[in-house]
Amino acid sequence: MSAPTGGMSRARCVELDRADPLASRRGAFVLDEGRIYLDGNSLGPLTHAARRRVQEVLDHEWGRDLIAGWNLHGWIDLPARLGARIAPLIGAAAADVVVGDSTSVNLFKLAASFMRDAAPRTRVVTELGNFPTDLYVLQGLADLMPGRVELAAVPRGDVAGAIDERTALVVLTHVHYKTAETYDLAEVTAAAHERGAAVLWDLSHSVGALPVDLGSARADLAVGCTYKYLNGGPGAPAFLYVRPDLQARLEPAIAGWLGHEAPFAFDDDYRPAAGVARHCAGTPGILGMAALDGALEVFDGLDLIALRAKSLALTDLFIGLVEARCAPHGLELVTPREPARRGSHVSFRHPEGYGIIQALIARGVTGDFRAPDVLRFGFTPLYTRYVDVWDAVEALVAVLDGREWSRTEHRHRRTVT
Ligand SMILES: Cc1ncc(COP(=O)(O)O)c(C=O)c1O
Repeated sequence: MSAPTGGMSRARCVELDRADPLASRRGAFVLDEGRIYLDGNSLGPLTHAARRRVQEVLDHEWGRDLIAGWNLHGWIDLPARLGARIAPLIGAAAADVVVGDSTSVNLFKLAASFMRDAAPRTRVVTELGNFPTDLYVLQGLADLMPGRVELAAVPRGDVAGAIDERTALVVLTHVHYKTAETYDLAEVTAAAHERGAAVLWDLSHSVGALPVDLGSARADLAVGCTYKYLNGGPGAPAFLYVRPDLQARLEPAIAGWLGHEAPFAFDDDYRPAAGVARHCAGTPGILGMAALDGALEVFDGLDLIALRAKSLALTDLFIGLVEARCAPHGLELVTPREPARRGSHVSFRHPEGYGIIQALIARGVTGDFRAPDVLRFGFTPLYTRYVDVWDAVEALVAVLDGREWSRTEHRHRRTVT
């Protein structure tokens, strides 16, 4: 006899897909129908529009017009134009977001820029267990600016208490990369402001997955990836945001020529551009930006409330089915059960997590593994169907019941997990 599934069945999932207002967006993606892709929180899939846009740049812009493309096709404005397209997804005004570099570099740029001018405050508070790059960048910054930056990396539960009168900046990831637990962005920002500190939000696991409202929270600074839920492609350029009233005050940490007020004046001395453009250090990577430009089409006119509703429905369904059907196998849920505290992925802990993920991949279900023992499954409402959730759990049951994770071929650790 099979385990109870709370009235859910594969047929019911098919019905839910038929009624899904976002169902038609799936057609925008290049997907292998034989694979259930639950790793869009790590690398989003290619869209047809991204492929077309890159092809267009190759064949008709760079390929034909060469250097004239910078003016003719507006390549030089792409960091700002892409920033303007991402802005509505994070509750920002178009002029306050710019695209370029990686999330790590943007985090460094904004944190360093802010801390240059933070005296007498020196403390930067962050969370132990934050995404490693956030921790490493801040550790590096403390080494680079001794006496001016002192890092306080504390357990999650101690973050609020660590923000004191010495604190200049709080650096947090809105949706945790392992557990998917969210911070209340408005509440944490307000609490930091009350104590005279600013907050830099890492939105890598939020943007394109749930509505974010930096503007109404009066958030100070933000960065984020575009290769996850925004589907910009492997290593796609990241974005950064600075609240308008802070923009003129923040001297860029990297005074590159494309952040100059007049790059083509070729002056010997640096004068920062107005606004967020001053944080653009060097020449933008146009091929990567073209892919992102195409990828963002799928967000045009998208109702983020509907996106969030489906994301929660998918994650709820997955949690419920796994717990009902895999109960004897010792999977421990690490993602909050409470919907408001959950991003768009679900993680379970299991000592054989790596092998389980490899065995699932072999069965056509892609999730990923985060050491030491976390299995992650990303639910991207634009292309993941309810029936995919059902079938993914079926595969998980088969892997666990058959101890498929113990096979030699699933135990070999590759570089990227
Ligand atoms: C929260 C978070 N920040 C930053 C990054 C990585 O940024 P980068 O694009 O610099 O590799 C990731 C990557 O997964 C992430 O999850």
